[in-house]
Amino acid sequence: MTETVTILGLESSCDDTAAAVVRHSIKEPAKVLSSVVFDQNALHADFGGVVPEIAARAHAERLDICVEAALKGAGLKLDDVDAIAVTSGPGLIGGVLSGVMCAKGLAAGAGKPLISVNHLAGHALTPRMTDDTTFPYLMLLVSGGHCQFLIVHAADRFTRLGGTIDDAPGEAFDKTAKLLGLGNPGGPLVEKEAVIGDAKRFKLPRPLLDRAGCDMSFSGLKTALRRARDLIIDEKGGLTVQDRADLCAGFQTAVSDTLVEKTRRACLAFMDETGTPTPVLAVAGGVAANTEIRTGLQGLCASTGFTFLAPPLKYCTDNAAMIAWVGVEKYRTRDFSTMALAARPRWPLDQDAKPMLGSGKKGAKA
Ligand code: KG4
Ligand code: ZN
Repeated sequence: MTETVTILGLESSCDDTAAAVVRHSIKEPAKVLSSVVFDQNALHADFGGVVPEIAARAHAERLDICVEAALKGAGLKLDDVDAIAVTSGPGLIGGVLSGVMCAKGLAAGAGKPLISVNHLAGHALTPRMTDDTTFPYLMLLVSGGHCQFLIVHAADRFTRLGGTIDDAPGEAFDKTAKLLGLGNPGGPLVEKEAVIGDAKRFKLPRPLLDRAGCDMSFSGLKTALRRARDLIIDEKGGLTVQDRADLCAGFQTAVSDTLVEKTRRACLAFMDETGTPTPVLAVAGGVAANTEIRTGLQGLCASTGFTFLAPPLKYCTDNAAMIAWVGVEKYRTRDFSTMALAARPRWPLDQDAKPMLGSGKKGAKA
């Protein structure tokens, strides 16, 4: 199949309303013709987390504007695209429904095929769009809503090696920032404070390292941080700038150590299963922007013979180009949906893996 495929993608499973157009011809790198993301940070700022009802309403209000902007940015009309791809799960159900309804309307109105996309597959297949990565490869998703290791065997075949059993790392960064009176999103603010901090001052746990396998837990770490904070406040009546920096540095290093050690195990499991001579570790998600974590993972790759791959941040965090890309992969196998397509709050990529515990404030984790 040598045809050129152009797909419009829609994403609305959490707190970003996004639309994008991606074009792909065999033997050429994919082209992101446009990628528009309207974030909802301001709408949720007063609530300390994403409010599902507010998110769903904002998606419904903005999806059509977002689609228009994406088509205009690509210099195309709806009639010029080959199909409409949409995130139909997993995520916050109101937002997913808004996207699915909008995509159905566009597909029916323009007479185009409708393609159902798993949001996690969007993240997991991004390295194929940005770097033409060949199967199989190992993927680490680390964001505010997701945390899991996946072997990506094919566009529709994944093995989950492990993941968080409670908070996602980004969620833990955000809660830590809140505990220390920093703003939102917390990850970059904690990282900034940590620059002058002493990571060794507080003894924070490295959760689940004593347990075999790749599962992780981050909620106990946040509780340990709260205790350390409360002890200082009891002693001195408040936190100094240095106290806060030391807490941030200790927390960040604990997350980094945990992620790096669990990734080391995931690399071994990946080699056991695939035995590929050219192993690749790809990362996606906002937490992959953290320099200490990124440096730790790069060091691990250097020592284990893996190639480290981090797509540009704009395609690592929630966006619709990754959804359009899965649309390209599914278009090539004519994997289309009918108008009966339903929104799914939970939709694990690996149907055989045991269910993960917990569903965070940003929706289902697997
Ligand atoms: O992938 P993303 O944009 O959205 C979803 O969660 O789906 O990730 C956002 C998360 C937030 O929790 C944010 O605090 C975290 O990624 N984050 C970081 C950094 N930048 C963003 N965490 C640690 N260090 C950073 N530099
Ligand atoms: Zn995501």
